[in-house]
Amino acid sequence: MGEFFVSNHPLIQNKMAMLRNKNTCTKEFKEIISEVAMLLCYEATRHIELVPAKVETPIAEADVNVINRGFAIVPILRAGMGMLDGLLTLMPTAKVGFIGLYRDPETLNPVDYYCKLPPDVSERDIIIVDPMLATGGSAVEGISVVKRAGCKRVKLVCLIAAPEGVKAVQQAHPDVDIYVAHVDDCLNDHGYIVPGLGDAGDRLFGTK
Ligand code: PRP
Ligand code: URA
Repeated sequence: MGEFFVSNHPLIQNKMAMLRNKNTCTKEFKEIISEVAMLLCYEATRHIELVPAKVETPIAEADVNVINRGFAIVPILRAGMGMLDGLLTLMPTAKVGFIGLYRDPETLNPVDYYCKLPPDVSERDIIIVDPMLATGGSAVEGISVVKRAGCKRVKLVCLIAAPEGVKAVQQAHPDVDIYVAHVDDCLNDHGYIVPGLGDAGDRLFGTK
């Protein structure tokens, strides 16, 4: 089974309190999502392999450790876009792919509408980002899309998860590592996370 990591970092928890607050405006919501995404990226990359190397400092040769793997960050549209800049701040050389999915409001099943992945995506480690892991349908489908493209090493980074969503991803993709800021109580009758933060896409893009 892949790693399942829930961050108890005080900076993340404090920022989550601001995100959940219904009075937080779109501008602040956008900024804070990006900051939490950056902090979660730090947690999610803790176990990346390093390889030994040598560099010349101004004084002498130094033994160092470097990352020599390629990464692709894949936001699930739309709300995943809110997390992208935060991850790129820490991993500026990562390539970016996009998966467009929306949740059918009646069935709650994910509907695919867009996919654009880097040509060499199968050689890269993938970090899929989406703030909300509710039923898990969108994340399961997003992971399936990158696996069908040949990706073997996949991580999922979300802000808030419902227990149902975590279970769904673990059942469908037991090899995938999941990193979240918090696991909430349950889903309501409309598939929204309780207490959650509402509709992440609408709050990010001011569509409600
Ligand atoms: C939200 C969210 C996830 C999905 C989670 O997207 O960003 O992608 O719902 O729900 P699930 O785990 O039950 O699949 P939404 O479908 O609202 O689209 P949007 O980001 O375009 O608003
Ligand atoms: N999508 C959201 O944006 N919020 C939820 O609570 C569930 C799905």
